[in-house]
This record gives sequence, C-alpha cells and structure tokens, in this order.
Amino acid sequence: MKRLIFIFILLFANNSAWAVVNPADGTSGNIYTEILIVLFLVALLLLIVSVVLLKTVRVMANEIKVPGIIPATEPTKMLEYEEWLASETAEKSSKLSSWNKLLGLRPISEEKDMMLEHDFDGITELDNPTPVWFNAMFYGSILFAVIYLLNYHVLEWSPLQDEEYAIEMKAAKASKSAFLAKARNLIDETTVQVDGNAAVLAAGKTVFIQNCVACHASDGGGTVGPNLTDEYWIHGGTVNNIFKTIKYGIPEKGMIAWEKTLTVQQTSDVSNFILSLSGTKPANPKEPQGTKM
Ligand code: HEC
Repeated sequence: MKRLIFIFILLFANNSAWAVVNPADGTSGNIYTEILIVLFLVALLLLIVSVVLLKTVRVMANEIKVPGIIPATEPTKMLEYEEWLASETAEKSSKLSSWNKLLGLRPISEEKDMMLEHDFDGITELDNPTPVWFNAMFYGSILFAVIYLLNYHVLEWSPLQDEEYAIEMKAAKASKSAFLAKARNLIDETTVQVDGNAAVLAAGKTVFIQNCVACHASDGGGTVGPNLTDEYWIHGGTVNNIFKTIKYGIPEKGMIAWEKTLTVQQTSDVSNFILSLSGTKPANPKEPQGTKM
C-alpha cells in the first residue's frame, strides 16, 4: 500500500504533462509542486487511517478473538496467541480492575459467562454486577435513614421542623426586642416626647421613688434639690430640658448625671412623671428657684 502510494507520487513528480499552460501569457505555470504537496498530504492521511484501522482490527481480534485472523491450521501460533492474549488481558484487567469494579464493569470477554438463562425472542440479559457506587449510595441511604430516625424521632437530639420553626421565631422575637430596646436608646433630649400615658407615668414614678426622693422629696417638693412641682425651673421646664438635666446632671450643684444609671426609656419616663407633678401641692414645698416658665 505504502509502496503504491510512493510510486504514485513518483509518477506525478516525473510527468511534465501535468504542467499547465497559463492561457493569459502562455507561460507554463508550475502546479507540479502543489499537486505533490496535496498528494503527500493524502498519502499521509491514508497512512494514518490505515494505521488506525490496523490497530482497531488488532484490538478487536484481541478482545473478541476473530477466528479468521490466525488460521486454525497453525495450532502453535494459536497457542502463542492465546498465551499472549491471556497475559495482555491480565495486565489490562489489573490496570482497570479497580476502576471497573467501581463502575461495575466487566470485560466484554466475560460476556458469555454473564448471560442470564432467559431469552425473550432473542433478547438476552447480562447478569452484570451492581456497581460499587450504586451500592455505596444504596447502603448509604439506609444508614442515613437510620441515623435520621434515631436523631430526630428516637433520641430527639435535633429539633423537628415545627420545633425548629418555634425556636427560630423565638430567636427572631428576641432579636426584635433587642433591636427595639436599642431603638429606644435612640431617644435623647432632642427626640423625647411628652407622654401622659398612665403606664409611662407609673414607670416614671417608680424610677423617681427609687432614685430621686432623697433630694427632691417623694412628692417632688424638694429638699437638697429644687421643687419640681412649681413653675420655676433653673434648667428649663420642657420635657427636653428635664430630660437633659436628668441625663447629664448638674454635677457641680449636686445633681447627679443619670446617664449611666438609667436607661433612656427610664429617663424619658421620669421626665414625663416630673412634668405630671407640675401644679400638685407638695407637703413641704421648697421655695421657687430659677425663672418662671
Ligand atoms: C444627690 C441629690 C439629688 C438627687 C439624688 C437627684 N437630684 Fe435632681 N437635682 C439636685 C440638685 C442639687 C439640683 C439643682 C441643680 C442646680 O441648682 O443647678 C437638681 C435639679 C434637678 C432638676 C432640674 C430642676 C430645675 O429647676 O431645672 C431636675 C429635673 C431633677 N433634678 C430631676 C431629678 C431626677 C429625675 C432625679 C432622680 C433620677 C434626681 N433629680 C435626683 C439634686 C439631686
């Protein structure tokens, strides 16, 4: 075959008849080189194809023992071939065995041993082994189910969905109230509101009784500190002024800064409570201090 191609190329190479005459100027154009190249490429292609084909035939022969390849009249050759095939197969299978096992594959040479007995109109079935990956998944899922059952329903280590929902809702509620508490911290002397709500006043009164009576008397009439019920204020009588006085205090005059002791909510509440005291008649009112508001 190769020889044939070679001869063919030579034939082309030596035949000047292939030179074409250019009709425009009469010079003979030399397409000889191009043809040579094309032929060379074709030859190369043929060579590659024949090598591949040869290899395929060999592979097929090895795998499925094409009987025609080695004449039965040469028993020694046949024996050699069998030996070679056995060693080749062993080598190949040792190389591939772990991979094949994983995929549950067996060499095609074992096909006839894997054939199942039954036959449906010529359609037979191979008794292929179950792939390892499939078994792993199958037994893995059983194991998972057992662990799941024990975890969620027997030992009850992990919460079930509705429990989990409740837990999450609780956590969300907690974080919501934490946020609201923080949001309340946003109240300051500029944003504090007048609030006559009974609950606010009650909360404010509690704060007042607990912290302020020593200097302002339980009815706000004043002792060390000024009377908080009259219209006279040293530091202003609006809710904002009162809040500011309580928050920062007047340290040099003996009025403590309550910023660190009271929450802003408490400060706001007690400010409103003090506002609610105005106009009440304390038992022993201290004389007015500051300016009339
Ligand atoms: C240790 C004594 C003391 C305590 C306790 C105290 N105060 Fe005072 N408070 C004073 C003094 C003294 C003044 C007057 C400051 C000045 O003269 O500038 C004052 C002033 C004030 C004023 C301003 C009054 C005005 O006329 O402007 C307010 C409002 C006030 N106190 C609220 C409170 C509240 C609310 C508490 C409790 C959380 C409290 N005080 C606890 C001593 C105290």
